[in-house]
This record gives sequence, C-alpha cells and structure tokens, in this order.
Amino acid sequence: MKILAIETSCDETAISIIEVKNEGKKVKFKILGNEISSQIALHIQYGGVFPMMAKREHGKNIISVLEKALKEAKMYSLTKIPQPDKKLENKINKLLERENEIQDRWMKTMPFIKKPKIDAIAVTTGPGLEPALWVGISFAKALSVYWDIPIVPVNHMEGHVFSIFPNKTKNFKVEIEDKMFPMLSLLVSGGHTELVLVKDWMKYKKIGQTRDDAAGEAFDKVARMLGLPYPGGPEISRLARIERSAGMKRENVVPGSYNKTSDFSGPRTKGAGAVPDHEKSDVLSPLISLPRPMIHSKDYDFSFSGLKTAVLYLIRDLKIENPNILDDINIKQKIAREFEDAVVETLAHKTIKAIKEYKIQTLIVGGGVSANSYLQKVMLDKIKENKLKVKIHFPSKTLTGDNALMIAIAGYFQAKNKKFAKNINSIKAQGNLSF
Ligand code: KG4
Ligand code: ZN
Repeated sequence: MKILAIETSCDETAISIIEVKNEGKKVKFKILGNEISSQIALHIQYGGVFPMMAKREHGKNIISVLEKALKEAKMYSLTKIPQPDKKLENKINKLLERENEIQDRWMKTMPFIKKPKIDAIAVTTGPGLEPALWVGISFAKALSVYWDIPIVPVNHMEGHVFSIFPNKTKNFKVEIEDKMFPMLSLLVSGGHTELVLVKDWMKYKKIGQTRDDAAGEAFDKVARMLGLPYPGGPEISRLARIERSAGMKRENVVPGSYNKTSDFSGPRTKGAGAVPDHEKSDVLSPLISLPRPMIHSKDYDFSFSGLKTAVLYLIRDLKIENPNILDDINIKQKIAREFEDAVVETLAHKTIKAIKEYKIQTLIVGGGVSANSYLQKVMLDKIKENKLKVKIHFPSKTLTGDNALMIAIAGYFQAKNKKFAKNINSIKAQGNLSF
C-alpha cells in the first residue's frame, strides 16, 4: 500500500510518501519521499507563529512540496496538455475556495502532473492551528477528487506516537508484538503536554495533560523573557547545558575562589514567585529557585503557566537590585538551567509514576520538546534508578518536530483499519482534537 501524507498543523509544510508491506506480525515501511518546508525563518521575526501568516505560507508552498516529494519518490511525470474538464475544475475550485494561494497555483501545475500510484491520502485534521490545518485538508480533498484516491484523517498527536519508528535508514519495520503493551506516551510539544496510555494498537486513553500552558510553550515564553530567539526550547537548553557543565567545574574548585561575576549573589525571590517548601529545588543555589508545579498532585496533570509567571517575578525582583541584570549571561544561564530542571523533573516524575501504576512495557516520548537532551537523559536515569523494565523510545533527531512521515505511518494503520472518510465534506479542521 502506498500512502501520501500531508501535514500543515503549525509552521511546517510537509509531505511524505511511503510504501508499506504487511507480512504478518512484521510491517515493512519504505520511505519513498519525505519533504518539509519550514516557515521558522519567517516566524522568528515575529517571535512566534501567527495562524493566518502560517496559512498563507502553507498555501504558497504546498504544491512545490508535493512536486519535490513526488520527484524524490520517482513518481513525478508530466502528461501532455490535458483536455479541459470544466466540471472537475469547478469542483476543485469549490474545494479550494478559501485557499487563494493554492488556487492560483493549482491550474498552472496540477493538470500537467500524471496521477501517481497512491492508494490513500493521509491528512492531519487536528489538533493544531485551524487556518493552517485547513490548507492541508483542502489540498488533500482536491487531490482526492482530482486523482480519485480515498482520504484517511489523522490525529496529529497519534502521528507523534508513531514518530519513534523510523530510524536513520530509508527502510524500517514495525514488529507487532503483544509484549510492547501497555505503552505510555509522553507527548510534549509547543501546543501539548500529555500522558497517553496506549493499551493496544490505536487504542488510546489520555491519563493526564497540562491544565494551562504546554511545556514547549513555556520554553518559548521564558526564552522571550530572557531575550532569546524563537523557538525558545533549543536556546534555553543550550544555556542550561553550559550552566550545568560550569556548575560541575565549580564543584571541583576550592570554595570562595571562583570568579565573583559568575557567582551571582542577588536578592531572594519573593511575592508570587516565591517557592513553597515542598516544591523547592535542592540542586541549584537557593538564589535562583523555581517551583515544580503540581509535582506532588495525585493525578497525571501538569501546569506550566505558574512556572512561567514565577520566572517573570524572579526577573522582576532581580531587576530591582540591578536593572541590567540580564546583560549578565551567567544569570541567564542560571535561570535557563533552573527552568529546564523544573520542567524536566516534573515531566519525569509523573511519567515514572504512571509507568509504575500502569505496569508499562514501552515508553514513547515524542513532540518537539522530546529533542531536549536533558529530558532524554533524566528519563533514562530515572528508569534505571527505579529499576524499571521498560523500553524507552525517542524519535530520531529529524522527527521530534512536526513532519509528514509520522502522519503517513499513522495513516497506514488507519487505512489498514479501513478508517477512510466516507464523505470528504465531513472532514474538518479540529483545532482541539484530542485522543
Ligand atoms: O512538536 P513541535 O515541533 O510543534 C508543535 O506541534 O508544537 O514542537 C515545537 C516546540 C517549541 O515550543 C520548541 O521550543 C520546543 O518544541 N522545542 C524544545 C527543544 N526543541 C524544540 N524544547 C525544549 N528543548 C529542546 N531542545
Ligand atoms: Zn507536533
């Protein structure tokens, strides 16, 4: 079975083509084409993603991303000038009526491309930014009608669960084994933070989620407070890493002998940023200390908005003493480290608790924040420390963020279960789609 997958839920326009062979308990995947066009350079200038801007960019780029994916898959060939088919043209125009950017390009390109041998079109229908999701959905519908190929709608978060399967090679296989279950998936991205129990293939139960900001969103917002560029996760992580290794070096220095400028001794935080005793960090100097919100709550929920506010108050209080405090890179590094510690400790604590309670066999960590090397390290350490016999999987580097390959894999399993849309008009963008 060949699947063409489309992903436009946020700021990546991505299309993948895969070929899947089902051999009993082994499912073999071949990546034929995998293209991604990132809008990040544009969004950096504005410090975040504006939905309507993302929509326009997707519309401008999606046909050329398709052409590249078809070329890579060796499925791109041109036909002679086709006979105009007014009825079909009208149908396509109707499907693309809200997608001006695609409409303008469609008639100049698509009639000349030969129909590829594709069995199903998988498209992300949510969660995500609705105007952005609609671009992929409308395009999928137009292709479906134009080429007469059925559509399987895909949940973006389910895509992140499947993102751990491809390794570096072009071919990979998924072994369907019962002993993999129950699985637990910690999905951490710019829009989501959730713990999902996977009882069996395609059987999901969300057991916890953030009550406010997502982990990635908190990384991005704290980065902005520190004057770091968007997306904030990689930058905060870089500064935190420097501070961690500087801290290790300091531990080996005779007390009192180190550089005064790198050893900050400012005021203690107070007010709304103050830290309740049970949530205090015992790792860092007490001067820059942030809460671990909800770490001891009985459920599997998270909350990162209070942590973000605590950083805001911390910076405000530090600035009372020294308005230029953030010019000191050492202070930024210390805040970045304490913030990353707080997020990672909270995520790891709840995940380990869920692994124990649900007797989890396999842990999957996916989504943009799963690229965080400290999160990966702490997860591995905690599993060892707790002597848990759980297999842990992270996506390969190129698949932690949004991509269409994960949508293609999830789409295959949906197609195998005959989850085709019966009527394409029923496919709608669902910004808050959930498990
Ligand atoms: O999954 P993703 O690419 O897009 C969404 O669906 O949201 O996740 C993007 C998020 C951003 O908030 C970004 O700051 C965060 O992932 N991120 C990281 C790292 N790399 C990306 N957060 C922490 N550490 C990282 N290394
Ligand atoms: Zn995502």
